This record gives sequence, structure tokens and C-alpha cells, in this order.
Amino acid sequence: MITTTGLTKVYQSRGRDITALDGVDLHVREGEVYGVIGQSGAGKSSLIRCVNLLERPTTGTVTVDGVDLTALAGRGRRAGKDLRRARSRIGMVFQHFNLLSSRTVQDNVELPLEILGVSGKERSRKALDLLDLVGLADKAKAHPAQLSGGQKQRVGIARALAGDPKVLLSDEATSALDPETTRSILQLLRDLNQQLGLTVLLITHEMDVVKTICDSAALMQKGKIVESGTVGQLLATPGSQLAAELFPVTGAAGGPERTVIDVTFHGEAATQPVVSQLARTYNIDISILGAAMDTVAGKQIGRMRIELPGRYEENVVPVGFLREQGLQVDVVDDSQALDLVKEGAK
Ligand SMILES: Nc1ncnc2c1ncn2[C@@H]1O[C@H](COP(=O)(O)OP(=O)(O)O)[C@@H](O)[C@H]1O
Ligand SMILES: [Mg+2]
Repeated sequence: MITTTGLTKVYQSRGRDITALDGVDLHVREGEVYGVIGQSGAGKSSLIRCVNLLERPTTGTVTVDGVDLTALAGRGRRAGKDLRRARSRIGMVFQHFNLLSSRTVQDNVELPLEILGVSGKERSRKALDLLDLVGLADKAKAHPAQLSGGQKQRVGIARALAGDPKVLLSDEATSALDPETTRSILQLLRDLNQQLGLTVLLITHEMDVVKTICDSAALMQKGKIVESGTVGQLLATPGSQLAAELFPVTGAAGGPERTVIDVTFHGEAATQPVVSQLARTYNIDISILGAAMDTVAGKQIGRMRIELPGRYEENVVPVGFLREQGLQVDVVDDSQALDLVKEGAK
């Protein structure tokens, strides 16, 4: 639904070149909620602004719903007709809402429809429908100053939906909100994703946001995407930074003659019975050192760090047993074991 290839963005600032995007290949599938996470300055906002051509990329292409936006003329406010039309199918939600304070809630939602030349009656019908959809039917005549932050963001979302977009872009939409309001806004985005089949690309610096609603995620560093995939794929990638941050587990071995492993599970395989089966089958005592579990996109996903008695060589069979159950097993911090694993992978 959204594809970027070789996207770069170089800003000129006081005679210096600043590379904000450095060859970004992004692929967001239709109907998914895709989160891009990264620290401040990583290039997240530049990416999202290039996706709807608010910024023109320095090089590379952006395709949204089959249309190569980079081939269309103009940019920002000077966009040509074709680009404007394509852009009306891309909704955008901002961190600071960007509502017009002089206008009522309803008039804010109607604004993009005015620009599209929709008639007054049709505009107001549409705006009221959208306000109903975001749970603000009773606030149509209020002004933004009379609303809470969460309500303002709901107006921002209703406005973003005015052009019947297929894609919604969100740049830190919940960063100015408290945790409870954040949850309700994320839930709203998830509901819209499911009810309207909307593809959502969201930018955040908060891992919790990714965990709550994303099907897929990418990690950005210094203008590059360094990891990406579905949450399941990331978890299944040994050494994935995103997976480690999504499901942090800690805990060290209780002694030298011990093997510590991280067991990752998603979807079908639940660890609990597998761990007790393992203990019974091999008659070993297993200690759970740490665990991080959560429901991601409706599926139970998590990691558990367990300790087995004996060195790695003595645990090759139990580890094999876990892998046969469809669990991913990573041996923690044991260079000798790592060598054995590499041998095994050959
Ligand atoms: N309009 C601009 N002019 C010059 N430099 C910019 C501009 N916008 C962003 N940058 C720079 O590009 C880099 C990436 O910024 P940004 O995309 O806003 O990152 P993020 O959203 O991840 O914090 C930063 O170094 C930032 O200072
Ligand atoms: Mg930003």
C-alpha cells in the first residue's frame, strides 16, 4: 500500500547538508498498522512528510495505493492537481493537533472538504458522521479550546478521515497525551483500521505504542531503517534490537554449571505447558529468571528467560525439544554455546 525505494532527503541548513533520510526502503502492506520507531532526530518525521510529499524527497520514489507520488508535479502548498487529488486519499494526524482555534469542531472537520469543493450540505453531513465515528457527536459546535487533549486529537483524526483516505499517517499523535488518553486514541486508531480497512503508518518514539497496536514495525537510526518486519518476524530474528526492547527479559545464571536461554513464543505455542513438559520429560529443574508477555495485535507474544542445570553441551537435547515445539531458543551470553549453535547451523 505504501512503498518507498531508495528514499533520501537532504536538507540545506546554513550552507550545510543534513541527511535526514539515507536510502529508506519501506513497505507497508494494505490494512496493516505499521509503526516506525526511533530516537529524536532519526528522520521519522522527514519520512512521513516525504510519504505524502509535504516534503519532496531528494532522491527515490514514493508509491501510495499504486500511484507514484514522486512522479506528480509540485509540492507542499504548491502541489499540482493530480498530487492534490492523490494526497486527499492520505489522511494525516499531528502531534499538536493543528486545529484552527477560531473554527468550531465541525468546521475544522469540514475544512478539507471545503478545499475539495464539496457542497455545504454534504460537508456538514459528512463532518457529523465523522464526529460520531470518533465519539464526539455532541461537540460539533464547541471550539477547540473547550476540548481536552484527547478530544482535540479525535477531531484531528476525524478531519484526517474527511477525504475518505485509504491511508492514515500519524506523526507522534499520542506524544502530547497522558497514558490513559494515549490508550484510548490508540484503540480508536485500531478500530478505524479494522472498521474501515484503513492502512495506518505511525511514527513514534514510544515502544509501548508499537506494542499496543502495530502489526509491523521498523527501527530508524540516523536516517536508515535498520530493522523491520512483522512483530512475529522481529521476535524470530536472533539479536533483534526491536524484539529485545519490545520484550525485555533480564536475569543472570545462578552459577557456573548452568545454561540460560531465552525462549520466544508467538501465536500457537504457549510456553507454560512446554516448560513443564520439558521438566517432566527430562526430569530437570527449571528456574524462570524473567518473562515479558503481552498481547500484540490480538496474539499472545512473549519471551521467557529460563535456566537449566548443567552446561550447554548437556542441554542440547532439551533445547532441541523446545525448538521442535516451534519455540525460538536463544542461548544467553555464553560464547562457547554460541560456537556450538553456529556449528549446528552449518
Ligand atoms: N526543515 C529542516 N531543515 C533542516 N534540517 C532539518 C529539517 N527538518 C529536519 N531536519 C533535520 O533532519 C534530521 C531528522 O529530523 P526529523 O525527521 O524531524 O527526525 P525525527 O522526527 O525522528 O525526530 C534532524 O537532524 C533534523 O535536525
Ligand atoms: Mg519527529
